[in-house]
Amino acid sequence: MRYSTQTEHGKPIPLYDEAGFEAMRAAGRVAADTLDFIAPHVRAGVSTATLDAMCEEFMRAAGSIPATIDYHGYKHASCISVNHVVTHGIPSDKKILREGDIVNIDVTPKLNGWFGDTSRTFEVGTVSILAKRLVSSAYEAMMTGVRTVRPGATLGDVGAAIETYIKAQGFSSVRDFCGHGIGQVFHDTPQVTHYGRPGTGIVLEPGMIFTIEPMVNVGTHQVTVLPDKWTTVTKDRKWSAQFEHSVAVTESGVEIFTLSAAER
Ligand code: MF3
Ligand code: CO
Ligand code: CO
Repeated sequence: MRYSTQTEHGKPIPLYDEAGFEAMRAAGRVAADTLDFIAPHVRAGVSTATLDAMCEEFMRAAGSIPATIDYHGYKHASCISVNHVVTHGIPSDKKILREGDIVNIDVTPKLNGWFGDTSRTFEVGTVSILAKRLVSSAYEAMMTGVRTVRPGATLGDVGAAIETYIKAQGFSSVRDFCGHGIGQVFHDTPQVTHYGRPGTGIVLEPGMIFTIEPMVNVGTHQVTVLPDKWTTVTKDRKWSAQFEHSVAVTESGVEIFTLSAAER
């Protein structure tokens, strides 16, 4: 295992080699395939528990283990966050999707010891014009961050690009949760904030692998964690959307491990 000469709060930052990239391509493919598989099932009338069970079955059939199960006491194969739920929504048979909802599904299959982490926000039937703009802005915010990744850029550049884009849309960027190093560890160094100052923070080097997963709110960026210790909602109960890719810094720029089959 190689590490960067840079550290974060004294902790090393892994640099992965071509074998690691190959393993991440495989794990990322399972993660993206899981979302491709579940997409047509995200419809009015289905419960989030049913969607979770289907994701679990798909991940296991692909030879992977849902890494969220028993992760710090979490019990489910996915997080499913509807409307004003920002992140870590707990699948429930009481939560039935309705026309007009927006639904983030976040999965992290562990394949041969490697973690692929991705999420998308789906629209249930026809959603409001504002909700549609929120969802597309969250996707573009993520991709704006991804496009900033190249050797020599900093994590501050990535965060600043994301936050500037989100603010220009009239929305806010959640600060209490961030992207993270990933590879053979689920949540590793470095922290990838979705805000920042250009030219500050870790300098990106080929071989670094991390997620970019901005949460975009219609109203305040502030969030509240519910008494279940997981479900995170917007403080003002306005809606929130999120997308997540697992990416690597390459010699020439960036590689996305969690592209959908159509994008591959
Ligand atoms: N997949 C989430 C992330 O993007 C983490 C979920 S941890 C859980 O980092 F325990 F809430 F499932
Ligand atoms: Co993540
Ligand atoms: Co995730």
